[in-house]
This record gives sequence, C-alpha cells and structure tokens, in this order.
Amino acid sequence: MSHSSVRRPFIAGNWKMHGSVASNAALLAALKAGLAGNAAEVAVFAPYPYLDQVARLAADSRLVWGAQDVSRHDMGAYTGEVSAAMLRDFGCRYALVGHSERRGLHGESDALVAEKFSALAAVGIVPALCLGETLAERQAGETLSVVFRQLDAVLASHVPALLAYEPVWAIGTGLTASPEEAQAVHLALRAHVAKQDAAAAIGLRIVYGGSVKAGNAAALFAMPDIDGALVGGAALNADEFLAICRATNV
Ligand code: PGA
Repeated sequence: MSHSSVRRPFIAGNWKMHGSVASNAALLAALKAGLAGNAAEVAVFAPYPYLDQVARLAADSRLVWGAQDVSRHDMGAYTGEVSAAMLRDFGCRYALVGHSERRGLHGESDALVAEKFSALAAVGIVPALCLGETLAERQAGETLSVVFRQLDAVLASHVPALLAYEPVWAIGTGLTASPEEAQAVHLALRAHVAKQDAAAAIGLRIVYGGSVKAGNAAALFAMPDIDGALVGGAALNADEFLAICRATNV
C-alpha cells in the first residue's frame, strides 16, 4: 500500500450473529497461523457471548478484537444491554457503532450512535463508526449529505480515529462500490474531518465495507484513502479472510 507509511491498514471481520465455541476456535486458530508476516492490523468483531473466548484465544497473537455494539448507558436497569465498562473490563480495544443493521433493523438514530460513541471513548475503547447511504439515497444523489450527517453527529463531540464506509446497498448483496466510487466517498469523509482537525484527518483510518472478497480487495486497497476493510460474510472463511489481509501487502 502506498499510503501504509501514514496509516497502518486495518482489516476487520464482522462476524455478525454467526459462530459457535467450536467454529470460533477453528477460525481463530487458522487466522493466527495464517497472519505471520502480514503488515495489517487484523481484528475480529465477535458476538458478546464469545468475546471472552476470543480474548483468550487471541491473547498470544497479533489479532485484536472488538464488540459489535454497546449500550449508551453506563450501568443500571437496562436488561440485555452491555456497557462500555464491561467490554473494557476484559480488554476490549475496539467496538463497532452505527452499523447499518443496527441503524436499519433497530432504529438507531445518529444521536444514539453518537451517545454510544461517547460511551466507548470515555473508557478508552476505539469506536469504529460505520456510515453509509442506502441505494435510494445514492440514486437521489444524497450519498455525501447522508454520510456527512452521520459523521457530524459524532464530530460535534469527538474526532473519530476509525471510520467504516459501508454503502447499505453493498452489504451482503454481492454488489461492491467500485474502487473509484468508494475512494470518492473516503476522500470526502477525510476532507470533512480535516475541516475540524487537519492532523487527525491524516491519521484517520477509513475502511470500506460491503461485499469485500479476496477477488476485489486489492483494487480497493490500491486507492489512496481506502485504509482497509470491514468484512462480513467473507470473514467467516479463514482462507478468504486471510487472502483479504494479504491484499494489503501490495
Ligand atoms: P458483507 O458485510 O461483507 O457481508 O457485505 C459487511 C458488513 O456488514 O460489515
């Protein structure tokens, strides 16, 4: 990667609601064995019940890990919720916030996502803020206004270090934004952050998500503002995910 001297590539597997104790152990063993010599930072975002398993199995490796969501609340009578402090308690370094499946299926607003971002930042967990437009929004020419609105909700109180641009129409559909389409949005996002904090914008890692596979990863990573990937379906297959990690080595 020509830009890796400024920003270390970040490749993350979003396992979503997949996995079991047995399949996680096999996947992590294969990843650990296959990552030697890879320059990227490689992360897995696991379902809550498996975070402790992932933490233990990743402890002697360069794999990092995170949660897929967090509560906006610190503690209290919030049945079913998991707080940022609980994640931090056993070493969580990253967490997704604002994934389109949370925004779309669970009605998470920009304001709620910003509160979750703040809850994570308060305990030192790096939030990976997910952004992206729907197909209707893209067709209406609203892509940048949508992602800027999603970003501004967080920028009002924090400068993010990690963004995942995931066009909703590309998630799990087999459709990917072309490298040029994705690059245009990544560049615009970086420029938007630069208006608030120019130095942070240079270090800001912006990864692309949406049907990333071994076959399309290298072309995406060749773009100057695409700093890695958030990978869903392909992250459940060790060979495919490792091939995506290796695609950063160009
Ligand atoms: P996908 O999911 O790679 O299966 O499209 C990406 C994501 O939702 O993070």
